[in-house]
Amino acid sequence: MKKIVCKDYEEMSAMAADVIAFQIKSKPDSVIGFATGSTPVGAYKRLVEMDLDFSRITSFNLDEYYPLERDNPQSYYRFMHDNLFGLVNIPDGNINIPDGECENPIAECEDYDKKLIKIGGTDLQILGIGNNGHIAFIEPNDDLPLATGVFELDDDTIAANSRFFENAGDVPKKALSMGLRGIFNSRHILLLISGKAKANAVKRLLDETVSTQAPASLLKLHPKVTVIMTEDTQ
Ligand code: PGA
Repeated sequence: MKKIVCKDYEEMSAMAADVIAFQIKSKPDSVIGFATGSTPVGAYKRLVEMDLDFSRITSFNLDEYYPLERDNPQSYYRFMHDNLFGLVNIPDGNINIPDGECENPIAECEDYDKKLIKIGGTDLQILGIGNNGHIAFIEPNDDLPLATGVFELDDDTIAANSRFFENAGDVPKKALSMGLRGIFNSRHILLLISGKAKANAVKRLLDETVSTQAPASLLKLHPKVTVIMTEDTQ
């Protein structure tokens, strides 16, 4: 695991955008796994400013709340379109985001997993980390899921994400999310971490143990992970 410590959010975002841009320029038909949340927003803004060619990029997002309409301002579908996909030339048909409106979430997840396996995993997977150490919506637990599935959000996650909703009660209790296999099948994982609230999760990420109670700690087992973090997370 390669660790880069930045002085602030701007520096982290600039470095992250450079890593993603390098991937796109060196392999114009890359398969990229995108993350949502507040952390990657600055990197996406810079990517848009770089005016890169996304015409042959295929994207797979990590997750989506369930159930939630695409047009809900808090859907990850909206987030991705507002922050990146609507601002670059990626074809609609190349975009994959679990469908928070689907009628059969289990079939939707199976289908998403099959697509991920068929394409051979992502070239680059962007990740954030939850205050509780989750990645995607893989929450701390004794057993962790390998496949894309319908996962329950932890109370911690609901509390953390309620800042985006009018009321904590509006945060969906479930999500459709990649499992560990989808994430680990990536050839390069780019983990972005910013802010003091992540300090505990970072400790578990950087220590010499792995635990399913700190899902991000398992990333130590992946052969190519780049962590770009701000210094206040340590
Ligand atoms: P954040 O979320 O970027 O909004 O902090 C990260 C996460 O929960 O994985």
